[in-house]
Amino acid sequence: MKPKIRRAVKATFDADSKWPLTLLGPPGVGKTCIARLCIHRVGGWRIVLRDEYSRYVQAQRGELRRGTPPWDYAVSLPDVWDSWMSPPLLVVDEIATRAAASENETDWLHSLIDRRVEANKALVLISNRTLDDLGSTYSAPIASRIAGGVVLEINGDDMRLAR
Ligand SMILES: Nc1ncnc2c1ncn2[C@@H]1O[C@H](COP(=O)(O)OP(=O)(O)OP(=O)(O)O)[C@@H](O)[C@H]1O
Ligand SMILES: [Mg+2]
Repeated sequence: MKPKIRRAVKATFDADSKWPLTLLGPPGVGKTCIARLCIHRVGGWRIVLRDEYSRYVQAQRGELRRGTPPWDYAVSLPDVWDSWMSPPLLVVDEIATRAAASENETDWLHSLIDRRVEANKALVLISNRTLDDLGSTYSAPIASRIAGGVVLEINGDDMRLAR
C-alpha cells in the first residue's frame, strides 16, 4: 500500500468521525486488499453489494432462511439489519458494478450509509466507478454522503496483470 494511502486510511480510523471512507479506483489496484487489512485490524466483515442486496430483497419478501432444513428458520428484516449494524467495521465492496440501480436498491444503500454513519460506526465503501457515476447510478444524496466522508482515489497498475 502506498504510504500516502496508508496514512489517509489510518487517519480516518484514528479520527473515527468522518464515515464513510470510500475507496475508488480502477480494477486490480488493491482496494479490496486494503479493506481486508482494515478488517484484520479492527474486526468486522465485508459484503459484496449485489449479493447482500439479494439477501435484503429475500428478507423483504420473508423468504430469507438460515440453517439446514428441517432446522432452518426465517431471517427477519430486523435480523439482517442487525447483521449490517453489529460489526465494528462494515465493508461494502463492488458498489455500482452496473450502471443502473432500482429505487429499492438505492433506498437500501441510502439507509445503510445513514444508519452506520449516525451510529458513528466504521463504514468502508468500495467502487471502481467515479463519485459522479455513483451519483447517477444511485442518487445525489448518496453521492453527497460519500463526498461528506473521506474519499480516497487509488491509482496504479492492475496488480492482477502484474502477476
Ligand atoms: N500491495 C499489494 N502488493 C501486491 N499485491 C497486491 C497488493 N494489493 C493487492 N494485491 C493483489 O492484487 C490483486 C488485486 O487486488 P484487489 O482485489 O484488492 O483489487 P481491487 O482494487 O479490489 O480490484 P477490483 O476493483 O477489480 O475489485 C489481488 O490478487 C491482490 O492480492
Ligand atoms: Mg475489489
